[in-house]
Amino acid sequence: MEVIIKADYDAICDEAAGIVLEEWKKKPGLVLGCATGSTPLGVYGRLIEFYRKGEMDFSHVRTFNLDEYIGLEESHPQSYAFYMDTNLFSQVNIKRENIHRLKGKPRDIDGHCREYEEAIRRAGGIDVQLLGIGRNGHVGFNEPTSSLRSRTRVKTLTEATVQDNARCFLEGEMVPRFVLTMGIGTLMEARLIVLMSSGVKKQDAIRATVEGPVTASVPGSVLQLHPSVKLIVDEESSALLAQKEYYRYVYEHKGRVGEYLA
Ligand code: PGA
Repeated sequence: MEVIIKADYDAICDEAAGIVLEEWKKKPGLVLGCATGSTPLGVYGRLIEFYRKGEMDFSHVRTFNLDEYIGLEESHPQSYAFYMDTNLFSQVNIKRENIHRLKGKPRDIDGHCREYEEAIRRAGGIDVQLLGIGRNGHVGFNEPTSSLRSRTRVKTLTEATVQDNARCFLEGEMVPRFVLTMGIGTLMEARLIVLMSSGVKKQDAIRATVEGPVTASVPGSVLQLHPSVKLIVDEESSALLAQKEYYRYVYEHKGRVGEYLA
C-alpha cells in the first residue's frame, strides 16, 4: 500500500485525478470503477476539466458504478446513477453503452448481481477503482463483518452509515437501509485501487485500514493484501498514522533508488 499524504482536500483530488489521467494515457479504453459520496466529487470535477481542455477523451472509457441504494430509481436525485450522471457522465463524451450501473430496482436481484460481475469480467476487469472510506472502515457499502471474498450483492447498512448518508436526503425523507454493492472480492480484483480520505472524521478508519490487523471488522484493511493500492489522504485524515513520516519519506524519495545503482 502506498500512502500518499497531501495537505488538504484539493491536493488529494489533484493527485487522484492525475493518476486516472496517467492510467488513461496508457489505456484509452480504461475501465474505471466509480465511487460516489462527497470525497470523489473533486476528482470528477478535475476529470471534466481534463476533458474540456482536450487532455482526456472518454469515448473508449468504460465505467462501473460501485454501489446503489435499493429502492431508488435512476432518476432519484440521491441515487448513485443520478450522482454519476450529474457529476461526470453528462459532462464528458462517454458513450451510454459504456456506462454500467447497479440498478436500484432490479426485478431479479441475484441475477442482476451475477450479470454485473459478468459484465466486469467481459470488460476485462477494472483497471482503476476509485474508493472512499466510511467512518467504520467500509469500502463500497461493504460494512464491517462483510466477507472478505464477497461479490456484488445486497448489503444492509449500519445505523451509523444510514445517519452519515442522511445528510444527502431531504428532511423527513426515508434514507435507504438496503443497498447493492460490489463485494470486497470484486474490488480486490481491480488492477489499481485509489482510495481517498479527507477530514478528521476518517482518522480512525484510516489508521485501522493502514496499520491495523487485516480484519472483516474493518473492511478497508483487506487492501493490505492488494498488490497495488494508492491511499491518498490529507493531513487531517492521516493524523493518527504511527508511520506517517515514513510514508512521507517514501513518497518524496520515490524513483531515487536509481541514484544508488549508478
Ligand atoms: P464520503 O463517503 O466520501 O461521503 O465521506 C465515503 C464512504 O462512505 O465510503
